[in-house]
Amino acid sequence: MPAVPHPPWRIPFVGDALSLSAQTPAQSITGYAGLGEVFEVRVLRYPRMLIVNSAELAEPILDDAAWTKVNGPAFRRLAPMAPTGLLFTGTEDALWKLAHQRLQPAFSRIAMREYHASMNPLIAAHVRRWAEAPQPVNITDLTQDLAYDVITQAGFGAVLSRAQRNDFVRTMFALIRATNRGKIIPFLDAVLGVNPTPPHAQALRRHVEMIIDTPGANAPILRALSDTDPEQGAPLTRDQIIDQALVLLIAGHETTSGTVAFALYELARNPQIAERARQEIAETGKSPAELEYEDIVGLRYLRAVIDETLRLHPVAPAFIRSALSDTTLGAYPVTPHDWVYLNLLAIHRDPTRWDDPDAFSPDRFLAGPTPKSYKPFGTGARACIGRALALHEAVLTLVHVLHTQTLTPTGYRLDIEEFPTLKPRDFTLALTAHQYSN
Ligand code: HEM
Repeated sequence: MPAVPHPPWRIPFVGDALSLSAQTPAQSITGYAGLGEVFEVRVLRYPRMLIVNSAELAEPILDDAAWTKVNGPAFRRLAPMAPTGLLFTGTEDALWKLAHQRLQPAFSRIAMREYHASMNPLIAAHVRRWAEAPQPVNITDLTQDLAYDVITQAGFGAVLSRAQRNDFVRTMFALIRATNRGKIIPFLDAVLGVNPTPPHAQALRRHVEMIIDTPGANAPILRALSDTDPEQGAPLTRDQIIDQALVLLIAGHETTSGTVAFALYELARNPQIAERARQEIAETGKSPAELEYEDIVGLRYLRAVIDETLRLHPVAPAFIRSALSDTTLGAYPVTPHDWVYLNLLAIHRDPTRWDDPDAFSPDRFLAGPTPKSYKPFGTGARACIGRALALHEAVLTLVHVLHTQTLTPTGYRLDIEEFPTLKPRDFTLALTAHQYSN
């Protein structure tokens, strides 16, 4: 049996840890994609991780009947802040099934219409402020603020002050930095018995309690979490509601904001694509404020812009599975103890599935069926519950920006931050108001 390739500089006990960047693990893993369709990474006490870089090898792993989700190192470090949160529980765990079922109505088409009604004026107001600010503006920060307001207001019905929002975002970053410490000095936490999570996690949980206790709040996610209809199973306990709300707040804004920031980065570099998207908006014959939910769903080209953004820049850059029984991956045997990392940064640019894979070309999503291995929202039962909300919000944000603003690049060079989702670090753009006529 051939040996599975691995990065150079493997050393006893530590394994391949020194070959991977603690700050940008997904990008450093992708840097070794030249090792082949599959290579192996071993880090400390963690199971062997097989990195899959090709669409052909990824496709069979998308089958829920043969593979199951496992939490990799990043999720394991974050799980203590919200242990029963949807992202972290096992697929066989009754709590995952219960919460997943209870949350379904919050992501239905009826809920999407409700989100649209509350999001549209909110996004308009944010984009107006971006345009009025001294230029250039930091798009990475602004899209994050916007996405946070969308999830708290449209999802939970809570209107927070800027200070409260900044406080949450600061604490979230502090928590992620604290949990990253275990990555940078891998033995430290284990040796000292330190768990860096609790103080930050408690602050985040208090913030969530303030949101879910907002007097008179009435919005789809809050309603679904608080629902006690016995047809849908047992009501969630207070702690479970906080866990779910915290996961939805974080998963629901970091990812969408990164996607919009990457989309604006690509649109600023490709003015002809931005112009075609503007044309599509103009063809609706309506101003953004007048657009209904269905109008946004009908913007096929803008949706293709977002799809293409998530192909080149999958903000959730990987998901991890383990086999339910012994199997193979190409020439290599795999056991249920192995972790298999679907590396979307490589799979989404596989030249056997995509022509000119590094080019930003939304048209490829209008041309025909999408390759099966295009999976920016994960797969199967554990696929992203917030997909429809994220896509709607991202398209609607682009509508407001493109309709009112010209995007002028500032010479920014792409530098991708991993938090652990991806975003362009401090991406700036100069926005200039233009009068786009319908
Ligand atoms: C462009 C934006 C987004 C992307 C690319 C994205 C991506 C993903 C991916 C890849 C997974 C699967 C992770 C795995 O298998 O380990 C996932 C799961 C999840 N996402 Fe998203 N997501 C986005 C937006 C959202 C939004 C807006 C929400 C909620 C408001 C959300 C909530 C969740 C939750 C709760 C899960 C766990 C689902 C489960 O395991 O049952 N996400 N997301």
